[in-house]
Amino acid sequence: MKVLTCLLSLAVIADYVHATIWQNDQTRITDYPVTVINPSQYELQTYAPNATELSYKGRWDSKYISCAPGLKFGFTGEYVAITFGPYTTNATLIGYRIDGQDWQFTNVTANATHLLVSPSTAGINVTTPITPSTFELRVTNWAYGIQIASVSVSKGQRIIRIPNFDRTIEVIGDSLSAGQYATLEGLASYAYGLGAGLGNTEYTITAYPGICLFDKRCYGNLRGMFYQWYYASDVSGRAIDIYGDNPELWDFSKQPAADIVLINLGTNDANSVNNVTTSGYVSQYTKLIEGVHTVYPNAQIILLSLWEGFGAVGNTYEQAKAFVPEIYGIYEYFNSKEYLDQPVLYDHATNSTYISEHPTKPFVSYFNTTGLMQHNDIGPQYHPTDVGHVKVASHLIQYIKIKFGWILYATGPEVQHDTLYWNDMANY
Ligand SMILES: *[C@@H]1O[C@H](CO)[C@@H](O)[C@H](O)[C@H]1NC(C)=O
Ligand SMILES: *[C@@H]1O[C@H](CO)[C@@H](O)[C@H](O)[C@H]1NC(C)=O
Ligand SMILES: *[C@@H]1O[C@H](CO)[C@@H](O)[C@H](O)[C@H]1NC(C)=O
Ligand SMILES: *[C@@H]1O[C@H](CO)[C@@H](O)[C@H](O)[C@H]1NC(C)=O
Ligand SMILES: *[C@@H]1O[C@H](CO)[C@@H](O)[C@H](O)[C@H]1NC(C)=O
Ligand SMILES: *[C@@H]1O[C@H](CO)[C@@H](O)[C@H](O)[C@H]1NC(C)=O
Ligand SMILES: *[C@@H]1O[C@H](CO)[C@@H](O)[C@H](O)[C@H]1NC(C)=O
Ligand SMILES: *[C@@H]1O[C@H](CO)[C@@H](O)[C@H](O)[C@H]1NC(C)=O
Repeated sequence: MKVLTCLLSLAVIADYVHATIWQNDQTRITDYPVTVINPSQYELQTYAPNATELSYKGRWDSKYISCAPGLKFGFTGEYVAITFGPYTTNATLIGYRIDGQDWQFTNVTANATHLLVSPSTAGINVTTPITPSTFELRVTNWAYGIQIASVSVSKGQRIIRIPNFDRTIEVIGDSLSAGQYATLEGLASYAYGLGAGLGNTEYTITAYPGICLFDKRCYGNLRGMFYQWYYASDVSGRAIDIYGDNPELWDFSKQPAADIVLINLGTNDANSVNNVTTSGYVSQYTKLIEGVHTVYPNAQIILLSLWEGFGAVGNTYEQAKAFVPEIYGIYEYFNSKEYLDQPVLYDHATNSTYISEHPTKPFVSYFNTTGLMQHNDIGPQYHPTDVGHVKVASHLIQYIKIKFGWILYATGPEVQHDTLYWNDMANY
């Protein structure tokens, strides 16, 4: 499967920032409102990016840069403005919303202040049932990213810390989890659909286009997820320019431990251009799980089987396969009496494994994706369409509900945006 990487995308940013979104062979109109303001014309109360009222979601580095981020806070008054720093990829599309209103979109400009909430924002004058009002922002494109320089509200008003929900999910993956080539990418991926779709759940999507699980250079990403999972920065050209091959460690105590971790990695390892051996993949996949179990000892870990692509075979279509017995074998290993009696843990700091003194209960599940998608759920760029992502997310939500007893709390506000297509006639 061929995927563009963060690095490649950045190298050709001028051309690729203005991607065209195709909708049933027609161009989707993306004339999002321009929200740049001159802040000197407003009376603003401004907060630094390290304000304790701001809740960052997902991985952010110490410069408040992220290519996979979310930001959430409560606010009083009728204005919210955000200033984006110089490391922002110019014209990156962000989604943002207040309360339970629909997502809105704007392209952000580096070194500029954007007025994202004002008295003309839908729902701004309605104060119940969500109070204080909440503001939430997500970046759609996983290769580009933004830097938060400051957050402002009207003078005399304030921002408010919103407590975390008490359950957390993390998806560790590649472009398939990042949502690359879905219409709204990060806000259209199955990983987002799962995290947001469960409702009342914190979700982190640690997923970089083009990355292998095995720790080697794949499509321009310097390292594989076996290594990169422990670091704050992403794998983009911007991060390489700043940190080289010495990124900042991620401080796992910054955010709540995950209760459920999904791993969907191997599609890039399976591509022969990346030269990953099967034994290397199995060995590092095993150690990645041992490392996740060390960092989050109480997390349930779900291994997704790889869906790969589909191809025409004779007069029908068939799904391609990769690492099928390998991933299933890893699942069996972690559920064997041998492992559960004497669990092996992995310590990233010393790059070594050791035997835990405490037996463990089973914590690894296998999620079989075969049969969830069909050939036309994979788009011309070899990644799921929006419909494909919705299918995978929907099945995962129900799997997690049935297997782990998670109640579904998303009961009204939209999760997927721009999916309201329908037929306006009874017969056609
Ligand atoms: C905003 O971003 C979208 C998605 O990348 C793109 O299609 C659109 O052309 C951009 N608009 C501007 C004005 O940069
Ligand atoms: C935020 O950073 C500034 C320095 O840039 C520091 O003076 C301040 O104490 C920090 N605030 C918090 C809440 O950490
Ligand atoms: C943002 O400012 C920095 C200097 O602080 C400059 O290097 C960069 O080109 C600016 N970016 C844009 C898009 O204007
Ligand atoms: C940054 O993007 C905006 C559109 O969002 C555009 O108007 C502006 O010219 C761009 N700036 C640079 C330096 O490319
Ligand atoms: C909010 O403003 C809209 C548009 O001006 C108006 O139609 C609506 O009645 C207002 N709602 C409240 C609760 O004031
Ligand atoms: C894969 O191996 C071939 C032959 O040794 C080498 O030419 C190529 O650069 C390698 N590719 C990667 C991505 O490691
Ligand atoms: C980690 O250890 C493995 C052997 O267990 C070795 O192959 C690999 O090079 C080591 N990685 C680093 C970064 O030292
Ligand atoms: C996964 O599902 C496919 C399709 O139903 C089935 O053929 C396959 O045996 C399943 N794999 C496992 C490990 O259960």
